[in-house]
Amino acid sequence: MRYLTFALAKGRLAKKSLQLFEKVGITCEEMKDEKTRKLIFVNEELKVKFFLAKASDVPTYVEYGAADIGIVGKDTILEEGRKLFEVMDLGIGKCRMCVCGPQSAQELLQHHEMIRVASKYPKISKDYFYNIKHQTVEIIKLNGSVELAPLVGLSEVIVDIVETGSTLRENGLDVLEEICPLSARMVVNQVSMKMENERIMKMIRDLKEVLE
Ligand code: PRP
Repeated sequence: MRYLTFALAKGRLAKKSLQLFEKVGITCEEMKDEKTRKLIFVNEELKVKFFLAKASDVPTYVEYGAADIGIVGKDTILEEGRKLFEVMDLGIGKCRMCVCGPQSAQELLQHHEMIRVASKYPKISKDYFYNIKHQTVEIIKLNGSVELAPLVGLSEVIVDIVETGSTLRENGLDVLEEICPLSARMVVNQVSMKMENERIMKMIRDLKEVLE
């Protein structure tokens, strides 16, 4: 049996994903050691390997087959647009992709004004404004703390993830439009899906059972 390799998005999602895998008997003791600097974790018995990667790199590892399976947010899947199969919603890390800004920006959205949109997600922003709303906008790519942009006059609105809404509230911003719901998904390399179909399908069935 060959190894099945999993790429997990670093952070909160990785911990929750591992807890879910444990419930279907896929465990990796090595990975629980929080002080470790190791990058790859192996369970020899089950013939599985896990590695942690920056979320935005997970779809890349999976498309090229360096990982058979990836666990990553729908936001990253949409933004990266890689060739892979999205096979399952894990129902964890639920949040929403939204257009946010001060209430005063609502009018600019309604009247399709030429506005500036700041986001960590330029592709999602572009798809939404150009293909769904048919509004011409200028998209400005940022790398974090995007809520700052409308506060300091860099942009009129932002496209960002809203989870609890507290970042918006504490900065006097609101959700103006909702783009789509988000959550963690399992993605599979297209060749692995054929070559390891039985193992992967069994894992998906087991996970679905646990989630129900
Ligand atoms: C995310 C997101 C929002 C915030 C939303 O940022 O970009 O800023 O969380 O969560 P809330 O609705 O519960 O307040 P993250 O913490 O990943 O940091 P970043 O903005 O620096 O990327």
